[in-house]
Amino acid sequence: MGNENRSTTPQSTTFQEYIFANWAERAEARPQQRAQAPYAADRRARISGLHRGERLVIPAGPAKARANDTDYPYRAHSAFSYLTGWGSDSVPGSVLVLEPTANGHDATLYLLPTAGRGSEEFYANAAIGEFWTGPRPSLAHVAADLGLETRHLDEFADVLEATDGTTRIVREADRDLTDQLDGRRLLAAELGADAGVSIDEDGDTAFFRDLSEMRFVKDEYEIREMRLAVDATKLGFDDVIADLPQIIQHPRGERLVEGTFYRRARAEGNAVGYDTIAASGPHACTLHWTRNDGPVVPGDLILMDAGIELDSLYTADITRTLPVDGTFTEVQRQVYEAVLEAADAARAIVKPGIRFREIHAAAMGVIARKTAEWGFLPVTAEESLVPELQYHRRYMVHGTSHHLGIDVHDCAQARRELYLDGEVLEGMVFTIEPGLYFQPDDLTVPEEFRGIGVRIEDNILVTADGSENLSEGIPRTVADVEAWLAR
Ligand code: GLY
Ligand code: MN
Ligand code: MN
Repeated sequence: MGNENRSTTPQSTTFQEYIFANWAERAEARPQQRAQAPYAADRRARISGLHRGERLVIPAGPAKARANDTDYPYRAHSAFSYLTGWGSDSVPGSVLVLEPTANGHDATLYLLPTAGRGSEEFYANAAIGEFWTGPRPSLAHVAADLGLETRHLDEFADVLEATDGTTRIVREADRDLTDQLDGRRLLAAELGADAGVSIDEDGDTAFFRDLSEMRFVKDEYEIREMRLAVDATKLGFDDVIADLPQIIQHPRGERLVEGTFYRRARAEGNAVGYDTIAASGPHACTLHWTRNDGPVVPGDLILMDAGIELDSLYTADITRTLPVDGTFTEVQRQVYEAVLEAADAARAIVKPGIRFREIHAAAMGVIARKTAEWGFLPVTAEESLVPELQYHRRYMVHGTSHHLGIDVHDCAQARRELYLDGEVLEGMVFTIEPGLYFQPDDLTVPEEFRGIGVRIEDNILVTADGSENLSEGIPRTVADVEAWLAR
C-alpha cells in the first residue's frame, strides 16, 4: 500500500500458512443477466457499425486518489458503463475491447477477477484486497451478469501487443493505459507496419465524439431509469422541506439541506449525480454554489439543485427555489413567476423537428421581456435580443438546456451541429432550467431585487408529438410550492 508507516500485516511464514488455510468452499451463484445487458449489446452493435475495421478500447478507468492511499468512491467512465451496462458495481481498471472481425466486432471485457485465498492479495493489499475493499466477482459471474465474454486483465497484454494504427481508445478514461497504447502505436508506425500512421489522436477524438453522440436518443431502459432517478429525487426534496424547522436553527443550514438530501439518497441505496447546490439567499446568485456553508434564513429563498444517481449511473438534475418561511414575498414572487413563464415558454415549443437552440431562445424571449418591463435594460427587449447586445443576459449568463443521462451534462463531446444547432428527436432527455440572478451588488436593479436568485429546472423527455416533464410531480408553481411547504 506504499505506506510503510501503517504496515502492520504479519510477515512470518507461519502466519501466511495459517491465513491461507481453513476457508470454506464458496459456491458462487450464476446471476441472471441484468436488464440492461441487451440494451448495452445494441449500443455495441451501433458503435461497431460506425467504426468497422478498427480495434476499439473503452477503459473503465482507475480509482482516483483523493489523498495518499485514500480514493474517491469509484465511478467507471460513462462510455464504459454505456457499452457494458456495468454501473456502480464495475471493477476498477476493467477494459472493454471491441476487436474487429469480417462483419463487425467481437466484444471482450477484461477485468481483475476475484483473487481467491491463494495469494497474499486478499489480506495484504489494502488497495484491492478482499479483506480491505470487499470481494470481486469471478469472470464467469460477470460474463453471465452482463452477457459479455470476459477475460483476466493480464490478458489485455495481448491487445496491447496487437495495437496498431487502427486502434482507437477513449483517451480520458485511463491516462496510463492510453500512454501504453500510444507507445505501441508509435512503435507500429516506426516499424512501418502502418506507414504514415502515428498516434491517431484525431481518430480517438472522432471515436469519443461518436460515443457521445450515440447517447442523444435514450432507449427504453434509459428512460425507465431516468424516471426512477427523478422520482427518487422528489423524495429528497420532500425530506428537506420536512427538515426545514431544524435546518433554519443551524448556523450552517445549507449543509443540513445537502445532508438531508444525501441521507435520502443513501437510504434508498443511491448516490448523487453531482454535488448538491444548497444556496440560501444571495448564495443563489452563485450558479454552482456547492460550498453550502451558510445559514438558511427565514424570509430568504433557498435554491436547491440536486439529483439522485442510480446504480445504473443515470441521474436526475432538478432545481427548485423555495421560500424558507413558506410564502414568497411580493418581489420574490415577481421574479419566480417570470422564471416559471420562461420555463413554460421553452417547454411549450419542444417537439421533434425543432432545433435545440430554439428552446433557449424561447426562454430568453421571456427573460428579456420581463427585465425590460421592470426597467432594468438600457434598451427594449427586442433590441436586447439582438445577438450583439444581449443586455438581459447579465441576469442569466448560463444556457437554458443541456442533455441529461449517465452524465449530468450528457453528450458533452457531441458536435455543435448535432447538439446546440441540432434537431430535437423523440427519446431525447434534457433539462429546461432558466433562472434570474440579481447579484447583491448589482446597481442596475432596485435594491429589493438584489440578492435574489431563482432557478427552476425540470427534466424533459421528448415524445412523438411534444414532450413530457418527468419532474412535473415536483411542485413548481407559486401556489403548489407554498402548499408543499405548508404540509
Ligand atoms: N446541476 C448542474 C446543472 O444544472 O447543470
Ligand atoms: Mn442542469
Ligand atoms: Mn441542476
